[in-house]
Amino acid sequence: MDLGFKGKIALVTGAGSQVGFGKETALLLAKEGCEAVAVTDVNLEDVKKTAEAVKKLGCKSIAIGADITKKTEVDAMVKRAVDEYGKIDILCNVAGAILHKDYVPLDEQKYETWSKQIDLNLFGTMYVTRAVIPHMRKQKHGAIVNIGSGSTHQYSMGVGMYAISKYAIDLFTKQLAYQEGKNGIRCNCIAPGPAPTNFGAVLREGAPPPPPEQMKKMRDAMLVAFPLGRMGTATDIANITVIMASEATNYITGQVIQVSGGNVM
Ligand SMILES: NC(=O)c1ccc[n+]([C@@H]2O[C@H](COP(=O)([O-])OP(=O)(O)OC[C@H]3O[C@@H](n4cnc5c(N)ncnc54)[C@H](O)[C@@H]3O)[C@@H](O)[C@H]2O)c1
Repeated sequence: MDLGFKGKIALVTGAGSQVGFGKETALLLAKEGCEAVAVTDVNLEDVKKTAEAVKKLGCKSIAIGADITKKTEVDAMVKRAVDEYGKIDILCNVAGAILHKDYVPLDEQKYETWSKQIDLNLFGTMYVTRAVIPHMRKQKHGAIVNIGSGSTHQYSMGVGMYAISKYAIDLFTKQLAYQEGKNGIRCNCIAPGPAPTNFGAVLREGAPPPPPEQMKKMRDAMLVAFPLGRMGTATDIANITVIMASEATNYITGQVIQVSGGNVM
């Protein structure tokens, strides 16, 4: 199948984490034939490593440092990518995090935590998209893939404000898909289940991850709720993200796709 990536320029946010969905997505876009993949993250040193790994696959790449919650940094980041490659065909909005601890009731969280969570996951995604959209409109095509979360359907896990911010991304995806369809721009959302990346780092407040035995026990307990019997991987998420960015799915827009081994149906 031709995924239609020849000559395509992609921008991937949240690509700094060396074990995360963003880096895996950038590498797969490169492997599948994109001409260039611009990678960006709040952590410039890490995202430089990703750009080097992309280049090793024979694809052009630049690393751009930007905090997606800061509009001026986002605008400069998109301008830098467009100045370098002349256009952006594909945007993968991967950057995001959970900023509060599990099992803290919503009413016991600080207002500041609420707004930081929305600023990062929702407004951050919207700022990047807002900066990219005019370029896609000009060329009359574009594919945007947002990263949501299966937590939007998991009321028992105490993920409250994070889940609310991600549900808003589902709605943003649909609003944008409706608005931009006539301009040749598609927008879809991937909702991953839990996967072992750096994602939980905030919850641990700098503490190291639990020892492997304890991790295995925790995972085994969770797995009863996963019909396919295993946790997800960064590759599982990158595969579907890249397919949704490809021409193979050019009649699909406004969809939220659960990728969690059947954990959310
Ligand atoms: N791993 C999971 O279990 C899981 C499940 C559902 C959804 N998600 C979502 O997947 C996405 C990727 O997470 P991951 O699992 O790869 O985690 P990760 O922590 O490994 O990677 C996230 C990346 O986002 C970057 N980032 C964070 N804040 C940023 C900011 N303000 N500006 C720019 N970059 C910023 C980080 O530096 C990091 O490189 C996130 O949106 C997350 O909410 C993850």
